[in-house]
Amino acid sequence: MKKTVLITGGAGFIGSNYVYYTLEKHPDYRVVCIDKLTYAGNLENLEQAMKNDNFRFVKGDITDRECVDRLFAEEKFDAVINFAAESHVDRSIENPQVFLMTNVVGTSVLLDACRRYGTARYHQVSTDEVYGDLPLDRPDLFFTEDTPVHTSSPYSASKASADLLCLAYYRTFGTPVTVSRCSNNYGPYHFPEKLIPLMIANALNDKPLPVYGNGLNVRDWLYVKDHCKAIDMIVEHGKIGEVYNVGGHNERTNIDVVKTVLRLLEKPESLITYVTDRPGHDRRYAIDPTKIKNELGWYPETGFDDGMKKTVAWYLENRGWWERIISGQYQEYYERMYANR
Ligand code: NAD
Ligand code: DAU
Repeated sequence: MKKTVLITGGAGFIGSNYVYYTLEKHPDYRVVCIDKLTYAGNLENLEQAMKNDNFRFVKGDITDRECVDRLFAEEKFDAVINFAAESHVDRSIENPQVFLMTNVVGTSVLLDACRRYGTARYHQVSTDEVYGDLPLDRPDLFFTEDTPVHTSSPYSASKASADLLCLAYYRTFGTPVTVSRCSNNYGPYHFPEKLIPLMIANALNDKPLPVYGNGLNVRDWLYVKDHCKAIDMIVEHGKIGEVYNVGGHNERTNIDVVKTVLRLLEKPESLITYVTDRPGHDRRYAIDPTKIKNELGWYPETGFDDGMKKTVAWYLENRGWWERIISGQYQEYYERMYANR
C-alpha cells in the first residue's frame, strides 16, 4: 500500500532537502509538507517538488491545533517527521518566545495529533546542541546518546524540551517516537544567516566576513544529504523510543571553515573580521555516531572537501536564490545583528 508521510518545515533548509530525498528514494510515497513559511521558509525551495503528483504543500502553523487536526483528519499519515522549528541560535538570544512556541508547543501539538490518529511513527529532528558543549582541550570527548542533556541557548533549551517531550510521550503513552540528534549541516538551500552560506554570500559580495570571538570554536559538519539518509533509515528501520546521534567525525574550527570558503572562491583572507562573541557561545560539538552505524548501517557518503566544493558551486549557480533573500526582509535583521558589533 502507498505510504503517506508528513514532513513539517519542508520549505526550510534540511526539510526541503528531505522532501527531495524522499520523493527520489520512495517514488511510491505520498509526501505532504506543512510549513508556516516564516522568514526561513521559502517556497522556491520546493519548486521542483510542486511538479510531482505525489507531493502536496499546505501552508500552516504546527502550533495551530485546529489546522493540524484538520490535516490529520484529511490524510492518513503513516509517519510524521518534524523539521519545523525556529533554528537560529542568534535569533533565540534576541527573542526566545517564538522558539518556545514553535519548538516546544508545536511539537506537543504534533505528538497529540499522532496519538489521536494512531500514527505509526513520529520522528523528531533534534540536534546535538541538546548536549551543550565540550571543552576545546579534550579532543578525546564526544557526545554519545547517554551524554546528559545540558543546554546553553534558548534555542537549544527549546529543542531539548521538545526532544524530552517526545521521549516522555513514548514512555507514558507508548507514542511510537524516534529522535535524531545531528551535528551541523551544510549544503544547498542553507539560509544565508548561518555560518557557511553567510560567508559564501559575503565573500561573493566582497563584504567583511564576521567571525565571532577568536574563531576557534569547533563544529562537526555533515553534508545535508547524509543527514537525510540517516533520518530515512531511522524512520524505516529505527527502534521506537530510541535516540540516534548523527555525525560524520568532521570537526573544524570556524576560522578553518571560513578560510576554506575564501580559498574555494579565490577571495582574500583580508575580508575576515573578528567581531564580538555570541553570548554563551558553545565551544565544541563532536558526535559519536557508533550507535547508528552499528544498528542501522548508516555512514556519511560526502566528505568535507567534496561537500564544500558542491556547496560553493550550488551558491554560485543559484545566486538569484540567495540574493532575493538578502535583498528582502533578511537585510533588516542583518543590520540589527551586526551594525554595532
Ligand atoms: P530552517 O530554519 O532552515 O527551516 C525551518 C522551517 O520550519 C522553515 O521552512 C520555517 O518556515 C518552518 N517553520 C518555522 N516555524 C513553523 C511553524 N510554527 N509551523 C510550521 N512551520 C514552521 O531550519 P533547518 O536548518 O532546516 O533545521 C530543520 C530542523 O533540523 C530543525 O528542527 C533544527 O532544529 C534541526 N537541526 C538543524 C541542524 C542544522 O545544522 N541546520 C542540525 C541539526 C538539527
Ligand atoms: O549543531 C547543530 C546546530 O547547528 C543546529 O541545531 C542549529 O539549528 C544550526 O543553526 C547550527 O547552530 P550553530 O550555532 O552551530 O550554527 P551557526 O551557523 O549559527 O554558527 C556556526 C558557528 O559559526 C558558531 O560557532 C558561531 C559561528 N558564527 C556564526 C555566524 C552566523 C560566526 O563566527 N559568525 C557568524 O556570522
